[in-house]
Formats: sequence, structure tokens, C-alpha cells
Amino acid sequence: MTQSGLFISFEGIDGAGKSTHIAAIADWFRTLERAVTLTREPGGTPLAEKLRELLLHEAMDPLSEALLMFAARRDHLKQVILPALARGEVVLCDRFTDATFAYQGHGRGFDLDVLRTLERWVQTTPGQSGLIEPELTFWFELDPAIAAMRLAGARVPDKFESESRAFFERVAAGYAARQQQAPQRFARIDASQEIDAVRAQVLGICDQHWGQA
Ligand code: TYD
Repeated sequence: MTQSGLFISFEGIDGAGKSTHIAAIADWFRTLERAVTLTREPGGTPLAEKLRELLLHEAMDPLSEALLMFAARRDHLKQVILPALARGEVVLCDRFTDATFAYQGHGRGFDLDVLRTLERWVQTTPGQSGLIEPELTFWFELDPAIAAMRLAGARVPDKFESESRAFFERVAAGYAARQQQAPQRFARIDASQEIDAVRAQVLGICDQHWGQA
């Protein structure tokens, strides 16, 4: 029997700690003998990884930043995400378009209508109606004050990690706004809990959605 592909994304402000849990979810799917493609944005292809390098380290105006995010996304969708879904794989993507709305839209104050237009251009493909977007998004929600403490001294911060507390307050509000627009797509994770409790919550959601009866 061919299985249908499954597209899942992971979001949250910097310091929310999603990475270790993405690895646990990959293992969870592998125990069900599902093929897993682990990927990230910006990035995931040779071209998009080059754009990531620029996006994370070079200053640029908000429109250039938004356009490069979506350029990277388009390449990633065409080269990696859509082919993997067509093979019936589980695609686990560390950040996707919600991050653009949260960071470029709410964080930088860039025009949300322009982002919605770019989203439509980039996330459609001939023969498929509707937007290509994740079926489920794990949203690691954390108070920006706690995230800042977790990030402090962890490593050399990149361009986004160096932003102010006020910026991350806006990004957090941006994620909340996205969640309110499509509540059924989001699984909200309380990322202030101990790591084991977060893992239990995350894997509980996997069981609920995709566990075998
Ligand atoms: P992140 O996912 O946190 O990776 P790492 O854990 O390696 O630091 O870094 C990606 C950064 O890019 C993060 O600060 C958010 C930012 N970003 C945007 O601003 N817009 C986007 O559309 C995406 C995908 C990411």
C-alpha cells in the first residue's frame, strides 16, 4: 500500500528549543517504518543554504529579506519537499512560512498583504488546488524573557538572534496571530516545561494524530 506524504513544520521564537524534539519525532515515525525527510528553512537545498547564509548574516532591507526567504522556499519546495511528499515520505521541516509572517511580518513590520501574495505565488503548483502548506505545525510557545535567558551565552548569535526583546515580543504575537487564523493546523506546545515534559507532550500529539490503533 502506498502511504500518502505528510508535511509537518516546527515553529517558535529563537530559544524555544524545538530542535531536539524534531529528532525525537523523526525517530517516532521511523519506528512506524515511515521514511522521514528532515529539513529546514531557510535552507534545505544547495541554493537555499547559500541564501540562508546571506539571510542570517547580512543586513538587508525588509523587502529583500522577504523575497530571499520566499526564493529559498520555492527552491526547497520544488527540489525537496514536493518530491518527498510524492514518494509518500514524512517531511519534518524546521520552520516554514509561519516564520516569515512572524519574523518579517510582525517582527520587522513588513506588509502582511505582500507576504500573503508571495505565499500564494510560491506555494502553489500546477495541477494542485489550494496552498501547499503543512498539515500540522508544532508551535513551541515560550515567553521571550525565558527564551532570551536560554539563548544567553549559548553561542555566537546570528542576525535574528541578536534582535531586541521587543522584536521577539512582536514575533511571538505574530505566531499567536497565525495560530488564531488556522487553529486546527497548530499544535501548541508549552515550551516552558522541562525537556522531558515537552517531549512527552510532543509525542502524545504524534500518537493522537498518527498512532496506530
Ligand atoms: P533557526 O531555525 O533558529 O536555526 P538555528 O536553530 O540553526 O539557529 O534559525 C533560522 C532563523 O531564521 C531564525 O532566527 C528565524 C529566521 N527566519 C525568518 O526570519 N523568516 C523565515 O521565513 C524563516 C524560515 C526563518
